[in-house]
Amino acid sequence: MARYRAVPEESKYGTCLAGARRTCLSGIAFRAGVGNGIASLKETEVSQADSGTSDMVAGDDPIAAFAAWLAAAGEKEPNDPNAMALATVDSDGLPDIRMVLLKGVDAAGFVFFTNSESAKGEELAVHPRAALCFHWKSLRRQVRVRGLVSRVSDSEADAYFATRPKDSQIGAWASKQSRPLEGRFALEKEVARFAAKYALATVPRPSHWVGYRLAPLAIEFWRDRPFRLHDRLLYHRENLDAAWRTVKLFP
Ligand SMILES: Cc1cc2nc3c(=O)[nH]c(=O)nc-3n(C[C@H](O)[C@H](O)[C@H](O)COP(=O)(O)O)c2cc1C
Repeated sequence: MARYRAVPEESKYGTCLAGARRTCLSGIAFRAGVGNGIASLKETEVSQADSGTSDMVAGDDPIAAFAAWLAAAGEKEPNDPNAMALATVDSDGLPDIRMVLLKGVDAAGFVFFTNSESAKGEELAVHPRAALCFHWKSLRRQVRVRGLVSRVSDSEADAYFATRPKDSQIGAWASKQSRPLEGRFALEKEVARFAAKYALATVPRPSHWVGYRLAPLAIEFWRDRPFRLHDRLLYHRENLDAAWRTVKLFP
């Protein structure tokens, strides 16, 4: 059985600084950056940040900053840079969490798609509030988001469903997500049934296959700094109409 082994501090920081230097030299991290804030940090500032002498800069727009970090992750992460942990709570207040894929982000919020009859769908029906967490290992960055969740419109869900591969559309009909499955064969039978049904037709979106939008009340940017003296920058607002405020946090 694999045992936890502490990594000596020295080698940890050696790796960390080497990684930071690569990011800085390639300029990848902020190539996509536009506008204000974190996204607008110039390469020289990034270099200073990596050597521990500069700060994250708070601009007005956390969504632009997030988009720049996501674009940087898109160039670095081998798989699914848009993967995020989605935390919800059930009717007893017990937290639940799973990965989903971010399929859109703008000033209105963070969009993902799923089955409304799944565990997360039922939890969101009871408590339409959630948290997201992105972790981009290769960049050593994290973004946390908290906010209010609502369904995207049917037309928005239809439009996205129509872009999916036909096999995935069939899968959306075949899977009773989060409910007990007696065996793999039962799933394959359902796939075959719907594949036959829609063999010659466009696959319509199942009514249970829906999108959710998390409208953010808080977005926190975290980036690795030497000796665990990490940078944390929190954008927060009291309600969705209020202006964003920023605060730096101790690591
Ligand atoms: C990287 C990754 C991305 C995923 N993306 C989605 C997604 O976009 N939508 C979805 O319904 N499930 C997605 N899943 C599966 C979920 O993590 C989860 O198993 C499923 O949605 C059932 O969750 P629930 O029982 O909490 O509702 C993904 C899993 C992984 C590992």
